[in-house]
Amino acid sequence: MHRVVFKGTGSYLPERVVPNSYFETIVETTDEWITTRTGIKERRMIASGQAMSDLATPAAQRALEAAGVPPEELDLIIIGTSTGDMLSPSTGCLVQNNLGAFKAVAFDVNAACPGFIYGLAVARKFMQDGSHRLALVVGGEIVSNRIDFEDRATCVLFGDGAGAAVLEAVPESEPVGLPGGLLSAHIRSNGALWELLYVPGGGSRHPPTHEMIDRRLQFVKMQGNEVFKHAVRAMTESAEQALASNGLTSADVDWFIPHQANMRIMEAVAKKLDIPMEKVVITVHKYGNNSAATIPIALDEAVREGRVKRGDLVLCCSFGAGFVWGSALLRY
Ligand code: UT7
Repeated sequence: MHRVVFKGTGSYLPERVVPNSYFETIVETTDEWITTRTGIKERRMIASGQAMSDLATPAAQRALEAAGVPPEELDLIIIGTSTGDMLSPSTGCLVQNNLGAFKAVAFDVNAACPGFIYGLAVARKFMQDGSHRLALVVGGEIVSNRIDFEDRATCVLFGDGAGAAVLEAVPESEPVGLPGGLLSAHIRSNGALWELLYVPGGGSRHPPTHEMIDRRLQFVKMQGNEVFKHAVRAMTESAEQALASNGLTSADVDWFIPHQANMRIMEAVAKKLDIPMEKVVITVHKYGNNSAATIPIALDEAVREGRVKRGDLVLCCSFGAGFVWGSALLRY
């Protein structure tokens, strides 16, 4: 068996900053409502013409540089995204080409907001037997062109970005090297609740037609307060499962990185887990909810700022459309 250690992280945010005041000019909302209900002050959005691989590639390059791993040595590339460049091919293949990582097998995992956690879980399965030594896992999303700028209940929430991690499979018998790595990854889904959060148009159910666009089916539909309740419950349960399965408690956690959808969700989950807010990595105020990108971006920033240090126990959990949810516990 092999341990899966974190060799390096990276992230990329588009340059365009969109403050809450922008939404005051296009829908009936206020900076005060957005701030108090979500914790969001601003978010990043792509420039015209940018696509998912344009964000995922620099995030990956930064992670590879931090890890000291040349791209041609990668064995596996997994992109957690539901907003890839094209319906086909996968964004994984496009990133592989951009990086020149032609030894790797590359594919996408469509798991909405927990896309990075799903990516870690899948990578771990490939790596535990040692058959794939070096992996790149990216969580990235461009939500800004999937939101309806006439729907105040969703348009204020989302942003764009990408984060990445380079992982290495190390034989368990090898005593030296980096700390424990990915201790566990638990993923779950419940397709019965898909209609509470979904993007109906653009796939095979509602292919691109003028009528589909006229019906605004290409945009996110969400029953926010229902999603809120399920998110708090599922993220808490998954985080508890991560700790229990490793014989640890929340007192052992050095840093908690929950999905950054809403400050009130993060506060509720941290409270239920009995984790003080000082241990919670928060980026939602500056990036909003960039879906699969929130956790790897927050992890990368916390590492680069020297908050998350080698050996720290980091607990991550997420929730999103599907419903899908999950947790990852890592000894960085
Ligand atoms: O990343 C995937 C997971 N997604 C999430 O986790 C999102 C989870 N949900 C949420 O974060 C919250 O439910 C929201 C931020 C989306 C909404 O907050 P809420 O406290 O649940 O508000 P609500 O949906 O119950 O709406 C309360 C009121 C409504 O008005 P009435 O019916 O009470 O008159 C809404 O129309 O707030 C109104 N409202 C707004 N008002 C000003 C909704 N959006 C806005 C807005 N500005 N942007």
